Amino acid sequence: MSGTVLVTGGAGYIGSHVCKTLAESGALPICLDTLEKGHEWAVRWGPLERGDVGDVRLLDELFDRHKPRTIVHLAGYIEVGESVAQPERYLHNNATKTEALIAAALRHGVEGFVFSSTCAVYGLPQTALLAETHPIAPISPYAESKARVERALAQAATQGLRSAALRYFNATGADAGGEIGEAHSPESHLLPLAADAALGLGPELTLLGTDYDTPDGSCVRDFVHVTDLAQAHMRALAWLAQAPAGGLHEAFNLGSGSGFSVKQVLAETGRIAGRPVPHRIGPRRAGDSPRLVGDIAKAGRVLGWRPTRDLAVQIEDTLRWRRQMAR
Ligand SMILES: NC(=O)c1ccc[n+]([C@@H]2O[C@H](COP(=O)([O-])OP(=O)(O)OC[C@H]3O[C@@H](n4cnc5c(N)ncnc54)[C@H](O)[C@@H]3O)[C@@H](O)[C@H]2O)c1
Repeated sequence: MSGTVLVTGGAGYIGSHVCKTLAESGALPICLDTLEKGHEWAVRWGPLERGDVGDVRLLDELFDRHKPRTIVHLAGYIEVGESVAQPERYLHNNATKTEALIAAALRHGVEGFVFSSTCAVYGLPQTALLAETHPIAPISPYAESKARVERALAQAATQGLRSAALRYFNATGADAGGEIGEAHSPESHLLPLAADAALGLGPELTLLGTDYDTPDGSCVRDFVHVTDLAQAHMRALAWLAQAPAGGLHEAFNLGSGSGFSVKQVLAETGRIAGRPVPHRIGPRRAGDSPRLVGDIAKAGRVLGWRPTRDLAVQIEDTLRWRRQMAR
């Protein structure tokens, strides 16, 4: 991989791992981030351009100055629960501003556009494993904002844009080199919360609902290591570069293909940490699906991508990173 890549949200959790992986493969990541949620310390592999993806003048100026040939677009707000309370804010930041970025990509003749979508676009699962052909039926404004961008990218394909929507399941873990990891504020993701609770670095964890129609009543999720995710972006960029000429748009699930319940994750975290995860039972969170587990065959077949870091590695890396952050 070579050349300059515009990475929006590159100061965030997944974006910083994408930037590191890009740099390791020979590309120069240009990070565009407001730093509203991201961190300057996480931008280590290329310049930081502090600004908003919805700022059309800034986008044109960045394209003229850096001449990126491809875009990895990760910038966005990520909280499902918050999006239920503030739907317009989510639709504006995640969808309307992305439409401005897509227009800029078309204006500047970008050759490939990789978008961070989510498994949440499937809504309530109709099958045990979610394939890309499952109906798109978002049940939260967050998921709706992502579905709207996917539709915009499919439309932009008719004008020649080449794009891939990567529907992540639950990103976990941290860089094996210890340089970067998850640092959300407030943190709402299960593994860092469980790790902090087990290590005595945070409060007891609240398990959000135990009355779902799942084997143990807690939600079932599919967890994928952030470094595996980052590597999938390289695969997607390479695939877009060699796909037949003309506009195109495809969606790919990125998960592990296996489901673990929240209760199973707590038990496994306690086992690996050597201490149980202190927790209490709380109510369901609005916008959550009972079960989201991906069929990842398409990413394997088309992109040649397979995750290699299992749940134990994800938990070990999370525990190591949370200890390191607390020092
Ligand atoms: N973390 C997950 O498990 C997960 C799962 C599915 C999808 N995703 C998607 O992946 C992407 C990255 O997630 P993350 O966990 O790294 O989140 P993050 O909050 O750590 O990173 C997002 C970054 O985007 C920046 N940002 C937000 N709005 C912006 C704007 N308008 N202009 C410029 N920068 C802006 C933030 O400052 C932040 O640095 C998001 O789009 C998210 O929806 C994440």
